[in-house]
Amino acid sequence: MLPLILSAPRGASLAEWFRIHRDDVMHTVADKGAVIFRDFEDATTARDFSCAMRMLDLEPFQGTESAAPRTQVAWNVYTANEAPASEVIPFHHEMAQCDAYPSHLAFFCETPALEGGSTPIVRSQDVAAHVLRRFPSVARELEERGIRYVRVLPAEDDPTSPIGRSWVASYGGDVSTVEARLRAQGASWMWCADKTLRVVSPAKPVFGTNGRGAKTFFNSACGARLGWSDVRNDPSKAIVFGDDQTPLHSEAAALFDEAAQYMDANAARIPWQRGDLLLLDNRQVLHARETFTPPRRILASLWQAPPRA
Ligand code: FE2
Repeated sequence: MLPLILSAPRGASLAEWFRIHRDDVMHTVADKGAVIFRDFEDATTARDFSCAMRMLDLEPFQGTESAAPRTQVAWNVYTANEAPASEVIPFHHEMAQCDAYPSHLAFFCETPALEGGSTPIVRSQDVAAHVLRRFPSVARELEERGIRYVRVLPAEDDPTSPIGRSWVASYGGDVSTVEARLRAQGASWMWCADKTLRVVSPAKPVFGTNGRGAKTFFNSACGARLGWSDVRNDPSKAIVFGDDQTPLHSEAAALFDEAAQYMDANAARIPWQRGDLLLLDNRQVLHARETFTPPRRILASLWQAPPRA
């Protein structure tokens, strides 16, 4: 069952705990998929969060393509997606639609919401097992054809949108740098008259593996189909088939719709407490964000497991 909640032993320091129990922490996250570290008295600020995370056997994630607008507040610590409080952020694996994605993801609660605002999580292998059982032939088709993500990016960050990160922040400052990055990724693109940029990703898989033989639902398609909505983007057009870029047919759309319902019905929703640190294995667990009553300040930190010899 997700997540494991680990309460601080009396007087323990979070950074010190991570330093001493580094291997245990990483094994537990690999085993459970998600762990909440709670009630560590010295864990209150972005800096405390940053210091604790540096004690683990992880490297800072270098990717910059996340769709979410974020602000850096400490070393490798950012504000979580600043999408408006009234909007749900649907389930996703962080940056599954991108060229590179973080293996681990940590959230830290500086200020819990007055109401709502939890970060629901669900085990990806359970979602995969459900859709494979319910839609075996469509799942096989999606496995063969893959999917592409279609998104229109603004020229400047748009904090009113959950996918408002600009093409400047996502891919670099000038047009030639942007095009070189997109070309290297195998993406296609179109510059629009209003200085927005329409990007079609290369074909991406729908399923992944948790490294232990189980299939995962490793994609951001439900998130895109529900949440990639703003003045520039129509979420019903955010996902197309990977091979020929045709729109999803109704059975494929139904698979993603049912996956989204399954995640909603089976997610763990633990209300945030001040000082909570939630550490996730991004390859095993999907996360979302509920609506909330402000104030709420959750910080995020993206990490990469070092390659093993
Ligand atoms: Fe996220």
